[in-house]
Amino acid sequence: MHEQQRQYYLQAMGVQLWEPRINSMQGTPQGTQASDEAPVHVSNSADTSVDMQAQLSPGATATAQALPDWHSLQQNVESCQACALHESRIQPVFGTGERNARVMFIGEAPGADEDRQGEPFVGRAGKLLNEMLLAIGFRREQVYIANILKCRPPNNRDPRVDEVNSCEVFLHQQIQLVRPELIVALGRIAAHNLLKTDTSLGRLRGQFHTCPGIDVPVMVTYHPAYLLRTPLEKRKAWADLVMLMQKLDTEARA
Ligand code: URA
Repeated sequence: MHEQQRQYYLQAMGVQLWEPRINSMQGTPQGTQASDEAPVHVSNSADTSVDMQAQLSPGATATAQALPDWHSLQQNVESCQACALHESRIQPVFGTGERNARVMFIGEAPGADEDRQGEPFVGRAGKLLNEMLLAIGFRREQVYIANILKCRPPNNRDPRVDEVNSCEVFLHQQIQLVRPELIVALGRIAAHNLLKTDTSLGRLRGQFHTCPGIDVPVMVTYHPAYLLRTPLEKRKAWADLVMLMQKLDTEARA
């Protein structure tokens, strides 16, 4: 991507342009490093600083089940009545994007817009996510986007444990079908439920994690809705995206 174009998308993301510029895909912008909160440590291996549950997660059980194809999986999601959310939803929100994507972005749960339209991240947060993706050279259609929960919790409340447990099998099967090189957890809820931890988001940033039942490195960044409320944190989100690009670049060369 041309530098001018990147600057345009960074501006659209709300990242101020007077920051030191990135020289290349390998460059990390000075002053925007995730080390504001935690040292950047890129690793595929389990990170012992992160308090992960050692025991088998429900997701690990889910991955032991036979893997359906995309069509069956979508039908299973659409007919799911495993938790009470099916009573209040307009429709389940399955997931969208490239089914052979290199990167999968995982949010929390559908909001009102998503519930209406049946697609994840179509509201204001979704628009910012689109800008963030463009800033690293991806159109929305080139990544896969899904949520921890497929159905909207009433009034956008946090997902409950029983809801996450019921829904986890679907997400794990989506991950197995896409087989991405990397997963990006968007926000605290996605990070905590994927990594099975309650470590703060600030401490989880800046590194790649292994998580129970998922055979793909996971990185954590801020949820776009949080970034809309707290625009100053966009610089840190940009540092996270730079780390993501570096990792993809390294993998592509390997
Ligand atoms: N927030 C999420 O976490 N997911 C969506 O799909 C929309 C908003």
